[in-house]
Amino acid sequence: MAASAPYSLVIQHAAQVLTLAGGPTGRPLAGPDLGRWRIIENGYVACVGDTIAAVGPMAELDAARLTPATRTLDASGRVVLPGLVECHTHLVFGGNRAHEFERKLRGESYLDILASGGGILSTVLATRAASGGELLANALQHLEGFRRYGVTTVEAKSGYGLDRDTELRLVRVAAEAGRCQPVRVVPTFLGAHVVPPEFKAAGPAAYADFLLREVLPELRGEAEFVDIFCEEGAFPLNVARRYLEQARALGFGLKIHAEQLHDLGGCEMAAGLGAISVDHCDYLTPAAAGRIAQQTQGRTVAVLLPLVPLFLRQETYAPGRAFIDAGLPVAVSTDFNPGSCPSKNLWLALSVACLKMGLTPTEAVAAATLNAAWAINRAADCGSLEPGKRADVLVLNLGSVAEIPYWLGENPVRDVVIGGALQ
Ligand code: NIG
Ligand code: FE
Repeated sequence: MAASAPYSLVIQHAAQVLTLAGGPTGRPLAGPDLGRWRIIENGYVACVGDTIAAVGPMAELDAARLTPATRTLDASGRVVLPGLVECHTHLVFGGNRAHEFERKLRGESYLDILASGGGILSTVLATRAASGGELLANALQHLEGFRRYGVTTVEAKSGYGLDRDTELRLVRVAAEAGRCQPVRVVPTFLGAHVVPPEFKAAGPAAYADFLLREVLPELRGEAEFVDIFCEEGAFPLNVARRYLEQARALGFGLKIHAEQLHDLGGCEMAAGLGAISVDHCDYLTPAAAGRIAQQTQGRTVAVLLPLVPLFLRQETYAPGRAFIDAGLPVAVSTDFNPGSCPSKNLWLALSVACLKMGLTPTEAVAAATLNAAWAINRAADCGSLEPGKRADVLVLNLGSVAEIPYWLGENPVRDVVIGGALQ
């Protein structure tokens, strides 16, 4: 882009531009920096093609770069911020689990339902029975829902196939869904979600070996990350460690579902192997969070999923405030999936992160933009409003950052711009 190229799009007169810029570069925001980035009053964001060209106060807008072809969006009285980044979803699945909702209301726990052959396993049956076309249509419908909430990048895990062909199909459907519409999709392989019925007798280690041998090698270049559910009733710590070590040796980035329902030490183990994120963390202690922050020099992100304990009727939420105070970078995501969070409302997740995990409004916004981008290795091109990044920009029907988590459950989005194009 020439330094003086005319602007193709200018979003102007914003009451507040939440830039997410101004913190230390090269790593996720942590500690006091999480809530201390630059907000510009009466500001603008200018784009050239699919890229952000300039961000600043209106007084500094370069009028010479506005031409008759420049499209302008008036954001008077509104908040402008980067497109939201969803760094943890289970986007592709068949069926739904509405039938289990009442079992849960009667008091059955998540792990009880799973142990009885329901839960994740019931979605596995529905997913195996669905055609590729049906799975793609469902994924596209969910992506459309995310886009309406202003989510412009979505990580998408496999994990409801649990056999070679279906798992490969889920990763490929996620990638295909990303190519069919504007929201960017980042596929993750979660074949190690639970042990499928076919491996029940052989056990978790044998199933993990099967994945390493028969499935992972096929996904090089297609799935960027490998994830595993380390939990009672899923994969024990020693199996998870060995699996992630081998996945790393095959060249994959690492993630883990850990400390969701019990403290098994999965987060510390995965962070020690260089995991880009450790996810759930409801039972992660502040002391362990501090050790992870130190050991990884603030590079591993704890992805907090506050709608999950809410939907599973649990009292224990990740102590997000204590994690931040211990220097651990945090992100917030929905965990969209048919079992533990059938919601794509990341704004609601931000509100619950404030109410139940102790985040402030500015911290919550950073957790669903720049730090979420770090959690999926996309911070170089999204998550903040800075020249050179992809022009993913939202205009909200709100006047200040403080209102974002306040309007509980609303969708505040007025405009969604992805790659410089108004959707
Ligand atoms: O992140 N905890 C494991 N996996 C998902 C839930 C999947 C499901 O219940 O279908 C989660 O919560
Ligand atoms: Fe999950």
